[in-house]
Amino acid sequence: MDFRRLGASGLAVSVVGLGTNNFGMKLDLEQSRAVTHAALDAGITLFDTSDSYGASEARLGEILQGHRDDVLIATKFGSDASARGNGNGADWDARGSRRYVRKAVEASLRRLRTDWIDLYQIHRPDPLTPIEETLDALSDLVREGKVRYVGHSNFTGFQIAHAEWTARTTGSVRFVSAQNSYSWLDRAVEADVVPALQEYGIGMLPYFPLASGLLTGKYRRGEAPPKGSRIEAWGMGSALTDRAFDVIEKLEAYAAERGVTLLDVAMGGLAAQPTVSSVIAGATTPEQVRANVAAGSWTPTAEDLSALDEITSGLPPAA
Ligand SMILES: NC(=O)c1ccc[n+]([C@@H]2O[C@H](COP(=O)([O-])OP(=O)(O)OC[C@H]3O[C@@H](n4cnc5c(N)ncnc54)[C@H](OP(=O)(O)O)[C@@H]3O)[C@@H](O)[C@H]2O)c1
Repeated sequence: MDFRRLGASGLAVSVVGLGTNNFGMKLDLEQSRAVTHAALDAGITLFDTSDSYGASEARLGEILQGHRDDVLIATKFGSDASARGNGNGADWDARGSRRYVRKAVEASLRRLRTDWIDLYQIHRPDPLTPIEETLDALSDLVREGKVRYVGHSNFTGFQIAHAEWTARTTGSVRFVSAQNSYSWLDRAVEADVVPALQEYGIGMLPYFPLASGLLTGKYRRGEAPPKGSRIEAWGMGSALTDRAFDVIEKLEAYAAERGVTLLDVAMGGLAAQPTVSSVIAGATTPEQVRANVAAGSWTPTAEDLSALDEITSGLPPAA
């Protein structure tokens, strides 16, 4: 396993991480444990969760007991169910507010059974709270040692620049990472998010890097999705479009020409893109984790990258 700095921060992350939204939504505790142990055995150190992924935080907290010093936990706040009484409470929808952030972090620390969170991410922009207030609240958490680094998720290029300017001018903590949807079937972030990340030294943790499994090769044009797969189980059949398969089939031919697999291209190709620090693919079995880690080690040449760019540029989001 290779390690990279998360953006320009001092935090070193494994190039392949593990996304754990399945832990709350598809897997039970023992299945989650098997996936986590496979990740630890394969050298993964970065585990991404959220307070909105059902039981994910609580399960991760339980499973990682005894491993806490060897792993990095990245969690998120600000996207829990909006009905009052759920999650941390809606707080009049102001989920970047000082009060909300404080309640959310205390609840996450309890569920994760830890004294600190390595990376605390705002799950989506809060249009109601000035970013000054959110950054100030997060700065307190960093000073108190409850949080080591902070990141954002689903921010636009402008919101990233505004947050950076605010941090610089107010002396608050700055965001060191970004989570946005990014894969060979969805390159929309390259227009204005990635340039902002490059400018400010912010590391990308792409989510949906496998387009929910489309980029593993297990879905075929004109065939029903495999039983139990995410697309079948979650009723996401509309993702199986001809446009997606046009690209997937080109990527498969591209991979075959180079003696690698579609999964290698999905993982290693994405890891080779500017600003990407760790590819936090999700998994539902230990075998998937091992395959994803192995695929993350494929290192494309400059020629490989330009051919990949040609095949996948100008595409609409697929899933
Ligand atoms: N910040 C945000 O707003 C946001 C949004 C979404 C996700 N995330 C984070 O990003 C992480 C990654 O996204 P994701 O997990 O939703 O999507 P993903 O990584 O694109 O796809 C993961 C799914 O693909 C299938 N899969 C994975 N490896 C495979 C393999 N080697 N062979 C065959 N199938 C394989 C599994 O589904 P099945 O086995 O069920 O088919 C797995 O659950 C999440 O876990 C979460 O931590 C963040």
